[in-house]
Formats: sequence, structure tokens, C-alpha cells
Amino acid sequence: MSRYVLYCRAGFEKDCANEIQHHAAEAGLFGFCRAKDNLGYVEFELTNGDSGALFSKVKLDKLVFTRQWFCLIEELFDLDPVDRISPLVKALVGQQYADITMDYADTNEGKAVSGFTKKFSVPLKKALEKQKVIQRKATAVLHVFFFNSQHILVGFSPSNNRSDLHLGIKRLKFPAAAPSRSTLKLEEAFHYFIAKDDWPTKLSGGLNAVDLGAAPGGWTYQLVQRGMMVSAIDNGPMNKDLMETGQVKHFREDGFKYEPKKRNVHWLVCDMVEKPARVADLMVKWIVNGWCQDAIFNLKLPMKQRFQHLQQVIEQMQVSLYEGGVRYQLKVKHLYHDREEVTCYLSRI
Ligand SMILES: C[S@@+](CC[C@H](N)C(=O)[O-])C[C@H]1O[C@@H](n2cnc3c(N)ncnc32)[C@H](O)[C@@H]1O
Repeated sequence: MSRYVLYCRAGFEKDCANEIQHHAAEAGLFGFCRAKDNLGYVEFELTNGDSGALFSKVKLDKLVFTRQWFCLIEELFDLDPVDRISPLVKALVGQQYADITMDYADTNEGKAVSGFTKKFSVPLKKALEKQKVIQRKATAVLHVFFFNSQHILVGFSPSNNRSDLHLGIKRLKFPAAAPSRSTLKLEEAFHYFIAKDDWPTKLSGGLNAVDLGAAPGGWTYQLVQRGMMVSAIDNGPMNKDLMETGQVKHFREDGFKYEPKKRNVHWLVCDMVEKPARVADLMVKWIVNGWCQDAIFNLKLPMKQRFQHLQQVIEQMQVSLYEGGVRYQLKVKHLYHDREEVTCYLSRI
């Protein structure tokens, strides 16, 4: 038996649970989930496999709805407000972790304990360093997950299969000049999907991009900021400042009918509100026809069975890409700035 905690956006617990059960079962690991609506996390209990077995069979970046995870070491109840540190140290003496993170759910309840965790973190880390529990060369990170100041879970995640971001969340500052908050979705997608080593070639000035469903221009703004030339396709109006950069051409056309005039488009981005299967087909068409090199797009998931629906759409994309004879990379993630949608990265390789 081993118990895992997976963090997700509040309201997506069932999708997170369905997904982890699906991937675990594929890897021959079986268990059950406790997933209550709006808690911002899911508990998964494995009935076979050693502690941490899931980490060796399932990669976090294959999971769409899980932001971060850990395997439980100990659950501590009724911590003494006078000394919360001693029971934690006692539970961990003899173990080694590279670092420690103070976690909580991404909910209002979670945020209410975040102030407390900040005060607690320094003395706890010092106490654990004194006992040699924290050692840089170790290969796992210790998670202390707070339900409240008296009830905590202690667990670990392996350094090579976890998110380096606190709570698995990418915090970004909204750029004041951007025409819409949507801009953060594309910025986060660049951070998540594009390796830093590839930024100079993939996100550099002079590249051509097409933005389908561009208005008012939050995504186009990200491309323009990086020095790209953008064809913005939308019947709606584009932000004036963005148009004045001289880097944007606005076409009032249907994004499903638009075709690039030349074969010089590197990026296709698409944020059109449409049925996921229809958007997915369009993205595959662009990649198979060689109309672009890389695509980032949202699939809107307003339905109840989001995980199942997404699975079907992805499987259909894989079939069509295979039939189209292209070598590709496809990654999908429910990013922090996404709401009822997921973000996909599709690239010709
Ligand atoms: C969510 S908004 C896009 C926001 C934009 N990404 C931003 O950051 O400002 C969706 C846009 O898709 C456009 N749209 C929907 N269907 C379209 C279609 N068939 N062709 C072109 N644009 C479409 C809508 O007019 C709307 O402006």
C-alpha cells in the first residue's frame, strides 16, 4: 500500500483522479482515489507496488491535470502549537532529502495557511539540517502539506519526476500593456513547453507567426514582444497599440478557412472557442501540410467528462498525424492560467 497526493486546479479533481487511475493501470499499478470536488488535490492509494512505485512508472509531464505530487511518508494530526517541529523531525530522522517545500492546496482554505507556512519553514529547515535530513546530494524533495496549522501530511517526490515550481504553479506578472489577460496563457505555455535551450531558435525575432482567433491580441502581444511578425486572424477588432508596432497584419477571415500564402510560418497559435475535435483537426492539418513548424493551441473543455473527452480527441489526433506521415511531438497540460481548457503543444520533428 502507498498513498499519493496529486495537486490540481480546484474543480478538476475527478479529471485528475480518472487520469492517474488510467495511467497507473496501464503500468500495472492498481488503486483507488479519494477525490472531493473543489479541494484542489486528489488522494490516490495504490494497493500494489512499493512506496514511490508510481514515480518509476508514470511521468508527471505525461499527466495533464496534475500539477505536482508526492508520496506519503506520515500523516500528523493535532500538532502541538507550542512545538510542531519535534514530531516532524522525529518522523524523518535517518532519511535524506535535497530540499523541503511547504505546500497547501490552491484554494482559499489553502491560501489561509500559506502565511503560517512561511513562518514555519525557516525553523523547520534548520532543525532538519541539524539532523542531516536535508542534504543537497539527496535525490528526492520533502513535501510538508498543510491542511491547517495542526494537521499535515509529510511526503516526498523524486527530483527527476516532479515540478520544480512551488505547488506546480507558474506565477507570472500580467504585462500592463497586454490587451487581455489571456496573454498569460501563451506566456506560461512557452515556459512550460519550450526548453530554455530552444528559446533562441524558437522564440526569437524575425520568425513568422499566425494567430487564429487573435482578438483583442493577448497572444499576438506575446509573439510581437519576442520580435515576431504576426498574421492575426479574427473578425473582431485588434488592439490599436499592437497594430501600430507594424509587426501585425489583421485578416478578418474565418480561422478554419484561412491558409498561409507562403511556407514561411514558424508558429501557429490558436485560442478560438470551438469544439475540441474541430480545433484538433485544424491543428493536425497545419502540421501535416507543413504550413507551420510549431503550434500552441487551447482545447476548450466545458463538458463534464473532461478527461475522457480529451483522451478521445488526442487519440484521434495521433491517428491522423500517423496517417499524415509526420514525425511529431505532442504535449498537453492544464496550465495554471487555463480554466475550462487545456493547452497543447504540437511540433514537427
Ligand atoms: C478567447 S478569444 C481569443 C483571445 C485572444 N487569444 C487574446 O489573447 O486576446 C477567442 C477569439 O476567437 C475568435 N473566433 C472564434 N471563432 C473564430 C473563427 N472561426 N475564425 C476566426 N476567429 C474566431 C473570436 O472572435 C474571439 O475573438
